[in-house]
Amino acid sequence: MTLVESATEQRRVEGDDESDVYPDDRGWVIDCVQRIRGDLAPEETAITEIPLPSKLTGLRLYVKREADQPSGSHKHRLAAALLLHALASGWLVKGRPVVEASSGSTAISEAWYCRKLGIPFYAVVPDTTATEKKKAITDLGGNVVPVSGDIVTYARRVADRFGGHFMDQFTYAERAYDWRGDEGLAPELLRAVPDLDWFVMGAGTGGTTTSVARHARYTGSGLKVCVPDPEHSAYFDGWFWRDPTVTDKGSHIEGIGRPRVEPSFVPTTVNRMIRVHDAASVATMRVLAAGDWNIAPGPSTGTGVFGAIRVLLGMREQGRTGKVATVLCDPADRYTHEYYDDDWLKEQGIDHRPWMPTIENFLRTGDWTPPETFR
Ligand SMILES: Cc1ncc(COP(=O)(O)O)c(C=O)c1O
Repeated sequence: MTLVESATEQRRVEGDDESDVYPDDRGWVIDCVQRIRGDLAPEETAITEIPLPSKLTGLRLYVKREADQPSGSHKHRLAAALLLHALASGWLVKGRPVVEASSGSTAISEAWYCRKLGIPFYAVVPDTTATEKKKAITDLGGNVVPVSGDIVTYARRVADRFGGHFMDQFTYAERAYDWRGDEGLAPELLRAVPDLDWFVMGAGTGGTTTSVARHARYTGSGLKVCVPDPEHSAYFDGWFWRDPTVTDKGSHIEGIGRPRVEPSFVPTTVNRMIRVHDAASVATMRVLAAGDWNIAPGPSTGTGVFGAIRVLLGMREQGRTGKVATVLCDPADRYTHEYYDDDWLKEQGIDHRPWMPTIENFLRTGDWTPPETFR
C-alpha cells in the first residue's frame, strides 16, 4: 500500500479489478436492441404531394406522413433512437422504469416501445395536455403524471423516486438520432425527392430538424431547414440572437415551441425561422383536414404547412422554382376536444376564422391575402 493513493484507488476493493458495480443485464440489453432494430424498427412512411395551383407552377409541396408510424407520430423514430441510445449507454436496468417529460407525442411512442419491451413507463406531462393523448399513454400501459410546473424538474424527481431512468428528450434527441445512416426521416425524404430545397417543421426538442440538417450536410445535399415557431416560444429569439438564455411563456401549439432554448435545439443547423400566429396554425390545420388530400393533422402540422407556404411564397417572389417538404406530425383524433373544438379555442383566445379564407384561397388560387389585422 502506498502512502499517497488516488481517489480511484481509495475507492477500489482489493482484487476487484473486474467488479460488477453495475448489474450485468447484457442479455436483456441485446434482446431489446435487436428488437428495436428488427421487428420494432420505425417504418418508412409515404409522402403526399399537395398539388399547387397554376400560379405556383414550378413549385411543389410535400407532406411526409409520419402520423402513419405505429405509435401515430414522428416521435416513433425518436422513441426508438432514445431507447437505443440509453440501452447502448448502459442507462437502462431490467425491471426499472423509464420516465419522460413530454407534451404527449413522445410519451405515447415511448409507452408503445416500453410495452413491447416490458419496461415500466411514466410520462410527466403538462396538465393542459390533450385528454386523448393522456388516454393513449395509459391505454399503452404507461402511467401519466400531469403537472402544472416544469415537466423536466418533475420528471427527474419521478425517476429518482422510482429508481428509474429519466430519458430527457429535450437534451438527448439531437444526439440520439443517427443522422449519418441511410435509415430515418431525412434519408427517406431525400431518396424520394432528391432535389428537395427546403425542409420545414416546428421544433419541440429540435431533434428532427437537427437530424435532417445534419444528414443534408453530411450527404452533400443542398437541402435547407426552416423552423416555423409558434407564439411565446423562446426558439425564435434564441436562434436570431444566438442566445441560449432566452425564455418566454411557452407555446400554445402542442409539441412545438418551448419556454426556453432546449439543449437539443441546435440553432446553427437552422437556415431560417418564421414566427407563426397560433390562429394561422389552427386555420391551416382545419383547412387541411377539410381538404381531400387524406391529411387529418394536429396543430403542429398546421404550423409546419403554414411555414412551408411562406417559404413557397418567398420562392415565387424571387421567381424561383423548387420543392418544399413538411411533416404530418400527428393525427387530428388526438385533438378532438381541443384544437378541433370551437368552444375550447374560444376559451384559449385563439380565433382561427380570419385566417381560414387566406389559406383556402392560397391552396385554390395561389393568391395570398392575409387577414387585415395581420398585414
Ligand atoms: C405533435 C408534435 N409535433 C412536432 C414536434 C416537434 O418535433 P421535435 O421534437 O423533433 O422537434 C413534437 C415534439 O414533441 C410534437 O409532439
